[in-house]
Amino acid sequence: MGTGEFQAKTIIEPFRIHSVEPLRLTTESERRAALEVAGYNLFSLRAEDVLIDLLTDSGTGAMSRDQWAAIQRGDESYAGSPSWFVFSDAVRELFPFDHIIPTHQGRAAERILFGAVGGPGKVIPNNTHFDTTRANVEATGAQALDLVIAEGRDPSVDHPFKGNMDVDALRSLLADQSANIPLVMVTITNNSGGGQPVSLENLREVRQVCEEFHKPLFLDACRFAENAWFIREREPGQQDREVADIVREIASLADGMTMSAKKDPMGNIGGWLAMNDDDLAEQCRTTLILTEGFPTYGGLAGRDLEAIAQGLREVVSHDYLRYRIRSTAYLGDALHRAGIPVVRPIGGHAVYLDARALLPHIEPLNFPGQALAICLYEVGGVRGCEIGTVMFGRRPDGTEQPAPMDLVRLAIPRRTYTQSHVDYVIEVCEEAQRRAPQLKGLRIDNEPPSLRHFTAQFSFQS
Ligand code: F0G
Repeated sequence: MGTGEFQAKTIIEPFRIHSVEPLRLTTESERRAALEVAGYNLFSLRAEDVLIDLLTDSGTGAMSRDQWAAIQRGDESYAGSPSWFVFSDAVRELFPFDHIIPTHQGRAAERILFGAVGGPGKVIPNNTHFDTTRANVEATGAQALDLVIAEGRDPSVDHPFKGNMDVDALRSLLADQSANIPLVMVTITNNSGGGQPVSLENLREVRQVCEEFHKPLFLDACRFAENAWFIREREPGQQDREVADIVREIASLADGMTMSAKKDPMGNIGGWLAMNDDDLAEQCRTTLILTEGFPTYGGLAGRDLEAIAQGLREVVSHDYLRYRIRSTAYLGDALHRAGIPVVRPIGGHAVYLDARALLPHIEPLNFPGQALAICLYEVGGVRGCEIGTVMFGRRPDGTEQPAPMDLVRLAIPRRTYTQSHVDYVIEVCEEAQRRAPQLKGLRIDNEPPSLRHFTAQFSFQS
């Protein structure tokens, strides 16, 4: 008689809690006062006034016991620290590029890379540039172009790989303007487009086009492990592979990468730039020394290099990724069942509420995403992040246009919140849905010339 192994339906956190941080409960009227002081910009709140902080999954995750232990091994030698070799070996285990250049976070890698290859008249195609990537491209005078497939711009269309690049559009862009395009970029997963993955098949096609036109392919690989898990789950023929092996195949299709180690590498800070091109690497290292630090530590302490190396070993665990992707879907599926419009299918690191659909009475140029994000904080102290016309509506020439979508991202910090925290977030979203018809649009009272979402001040329309 065979006794089959018990398969529970519940996918549990594959860890238990070792150290806790208190949360501070506030009242709705306290939160209304905090919003007013913050000029209705959630980035300007004091974090202690936030109950469940879903502003970002960047650097906000819980490190493991073994990461904290690794911190103790950190060696702070200026040059040639053992921690550097631990770090670069761990990076190369997954991304075997010839040159690994550590930076203090992802945007530093972007600035160094685009400082080297960007400039006026240049065009950088990507599936979708994230805010700092776009800003770093534009800061050099180059144009940042988004070429995600059409499905990736429609929140309600179901598609397994909504982060895919539109390969035909890429080919015709290269045919038209090859001389102006220094490299092609693909962001995995596609953060601005809903945390949606890119398939191996699409990456192979993009690689092929890059080869036709002799252009290097760079990955913006912040959420590479989540992307690889989706490939394993959804792409035909990938079901029996190790995630680490899928990651290595993804790396083999590219010529370089930028990375924020604050995401899948499980660090609180860190990043890197990697590539195979010796000349470009030398140029980038020279800028690194000028602005970040010596090439064996970049902008980081030795202890941070150790924590990232350990995080890289942990993030490719199948038990972790199954829990991670399932717990994000748990939130998204519950909101969908409640009739709250969300980007579907649910992405890896976040659930994206479709504020334009929930608040059809607010014009995109009056920032429905911002109105919804403010409401979620007011109702329940939940802080999300507008990804829409506040973030992307201002063009480099100062004109305004609606972003492709007006979303509110509820990003899930890694290994940080429990299922009851998420159940609370669901209730808060349901209350925001009830209040939706009464919500008002906003205008911007003052804003900086770029990256305005971080510091702009708002007031409500009368
Ligand atoms: N690329 C992507 C796709 C990102 O999501 C981010 C950061 C970066 C680059 C820049 O990395 O923050 O280390 O400088 N995204 C964070 C977010 C901030 O909230 O999504 P960084």
